Amino acid sequence: MIRVITKRYRIDEVKPGMELAGSLITDNDKFALGEGTVLTDNLIQRLKGWGVGVVDIRHVVDSADKEPPPLSETQVAVSCGYNDTVGTLKRSFETIRFFKQVPLKEMRELADSALEPFINTSGILNHLQVVQRQDDYTFYHSIDVAVLCGVVGRWLGYRGDELKDLVLAGLLHDIGKTQIPLEILRKPGKLTPAEMEIMRLHTTRGYNLVKELGLPASVMYAILQHHEREDGSGYPIQVPGAKIHPFAKVVAVVDIYDAITSDKVYSKKATPFAAVEALMRDMYDKLDPNICTVFLNNVRDYFIGNVVLLSDGREAEVVYLGKFISARPVVRDENGEFIDLENKKDLSIIKVLRT
Ligand SMILES: [Fe+2]
Repeated sequence: MIRVITKRYRIDEVKPGMELAGSLITDNDKFALGEGTVLTDNLIQRLKGWGVGVVDIRHVVDSADKEPPPLSETQVAVSCGYNDTVGTLKRSFETIRFFKQVPLKEMRELADSALEPFINTSGILNHLQVVQRQDDYTFYHSIDVAVLCGVVGRWLGYRGDELKDLVLAGLLHDIGKTQIPLEILRKPGKLTPAEMEIMRLHTTRGYNLVKELGLPASVMYAILQHHEREDGSGYPIQVPGAKIHPFAKVVAVVDIYDAITSDKVYSKKATPFAAVEALMRDMYDKLDPNICTVFLNNVRDYFIGNVVLLSDGREAEVVYLGKFISARPVVRDENGEFIDLENKKDLSIIKVLRT
């Protein structure tokens, strides 16, 4: 069955030839394009000039075709570059495990150069969802957290060397896990309380690994404090929010988001909507509410247009997320029926099929 769907794009993702799904009027009413307008380079530049952030684009799709679409050029490039970067990090982490020496130059190079293309790739949050991952979670997670630190750091206003340091903090935040026995790190089941205690030592062991290396204090604090919580319920020292470094607070937020949306040895990945729900639950007592608000308000643009699988087996497209992001958006199923998941608590999103 041929049908028309609407997908929202950030302006930097819009390509010539795309067709507007609705009339477009800028905030100042100075420039308008009618529904069905085919965008050209010139029109896209004018939209950027007028400060338009997102546009709704019309696509004709054949819903009989259930095969997932092939990866886009960007997704392929991200996957290849990403796996190379993971390989480099893996070798470095193995060196650290055995020799207790951090190859800081390589780490800096990764943070400053190799990761930059990912941070600058529009839609990177969606692309990270489709990257195929093989073995050890820690390496993928470290790269993801570093990239997310770059993206979120920019949303928060960090620039230049400070932003690079934040990316490095994300890359190194779990470096102490190289000093945790592999049988605990790779245990497929739930950790015992005693094993959990050992796992938690990755914060102090990480700090000890880097404390003599002349890293910026912000990076060392992120390693030591990324599991501390605003209400003093975290570890290793249970310091309250006022004593947690801002870098550690950013890492804490993206660490939770990525952990929930990644496959791990002991659990399958959940959807970004579940991750959003977790952040919303903790944002007023355990996490920094300002960082969470900025994060949630920005990620909403990535979710519009995602095709998801509902718990009753239906496929649906995310069409609306409310003013403040909701973990239970409005979706439209294959028959065009709109479903407000906020009012249909018996239904939930169990998987993101396409981004
Ligand atoms: Fe950690």
